[in-house]
Amino acid sequence: MAAPALDGSTLIDPASYARIGYPHTDWSTLRRSAPIERFQPEGWPPFWAITRHADIVSISKRPDAFLNVDGINFDRNPEARGQAPVQMRTIIEMDPPDHRKYRAVASKFFTPRSLGAWDPIVEEMARKLVDGLGREGECDFVTEIASMHPLKIICRILGAPEEDEAFVLRLTNEIFGREDEEFRRPGTATPEESVMQAAMEFYQYFQKILADRRERPREDLVSLFANARVDGEPMNEIATMGYCLVMFIAGHETTRGAISGGMKALLDHPAELAKWQADPSLGKTAIEEILRYVTPVNTMARTVARDVTIGGRQLSEGDRLVMFYASANRDEAVFDDPDAFRVDRNPNPHLAFGIGEHFCLGAHLARKTSGAIFGELVPRLELVEAAAPAERVPSNLVPGLKHLPIRYRLRPGR
Ligand code: HEM
Repeated sequence: MAAPALDGSTLIDPASYARIGYPHTDWSTLRRSAPIERFQPEGWPPFWAITRHADIVSISKRPDAFLNVDGINFDRNPEARGQAPVQMRTIIEMDPPDHRKYRAVASKFFTPRSLGAWDPIVEEMARKLVDGLGREGECDFVTEIASMHPLKIICRILGAPEEDEAFVLRLTNEIFGREDEEFRRPGTATPEESVMQAAMEFYQYFQKILADRRERPREDLVSLFANARVDGEPMNEIATMGYCLVMFIAGHETTRGAISGGMKALLDHPAELAKWQADPSLGKTAIEEILRYVTPVNTMARTVARDVTIGGRQLSEGDRLVMFYASANRDEAVFDDPDAFRVDRNPNPHLAFGIGEHFCLGAHLARKTSGAIFGELVPRLELVEAAAPAERVPSNLVPGLKHLPIRYRLRPGR
């Protein structure tokens, strides 16, 4: 197949995501003519771009051949990895057989059955946040709703006290918004220095909570991590801290992206919002469609474990590949009219949560969190419109909205 005239920069450059958003036109070209293609944009290491649904499924189901150990983030400077001041090992960077043992520590907590107890709490938190908007006005939907709701829930399930939420929000923004000047710590010279200081503070903060829960366990996740055993031994410090961190890495920005992107999709498709308002039973399919259409987690990187041929292309041991979920979720071989946003789309076999070995541990919590906000907002929205242009985070991993100014009028709550 002839390589298309793309250099791959729109696929991977964080600044490009902030400027023009997801490169759907380029992905569509690649799916048609070069679904497994090698790129090396200027200033970046080489990578294979995987853009079709079927190829992402088969790669994700072969964790022995495509490894997570070198990290799932495709970085401009891979050598910066390992220079962190504190080492944490998260399950998303583990491969079998370790991965399964460590995933088992938290998997029971995240089942629909065990999370059922959180329904009234999550719904109450959504109601309070939406009530806080008042009857009408303008707000930045990202900072006031989409970011706060998942953050409050993660803090609550982890066991961080409510008064620490603002502090934890600042740290997560500093650690994960590294490409963004807005989140640079005052007095630091480089993004790396800013991230290192924030990671150190995060570590010290959770060390205190972990010590407390070893003494006085409660019904929260930190207690579970603090007292977990792997292979019959207490879980080590690096993995325990990794678990605390992964809840924020994997849970906060992602759900924030689903909620803010979902609101933007509804703003851009008022007929779909009206359809949902007329038939509240569409809640389940609407959330799945938001996940597909928005695809908050855009990429996952893997390292090729040994020489392998896929889709007729020869990949060599050590090569890096990047799976583009947002492309798979618009794959015309799987989805009818894939660029259309339809709240009643069914079936909807999207890959927003990945698939296989590393399938999102928090998928049920993410659906519940997003479902609670839209379940509260959609019936109450009398008017909603953009108050200013939206802005995107510069990232290729979770390129969600940074600001979404809206004007609204709400009906009173129940
Ligand atoms: C809409 C929100 C979310 C999206 C779109 C999302 C998406 C993903 C994706 C794509 C993966 C990688 C799957 C793979 O490599 O095959 C993943 C893994 C993971 N997610 Fe989520 N996620 C979301 C919310 C959450 C939440 C709320 C939590 C927990 C609080 C969470 C915890 C995790 C963990 C721990 C992993 C690693 C699982 C493993 O390696 O076994 N995620 N997520």
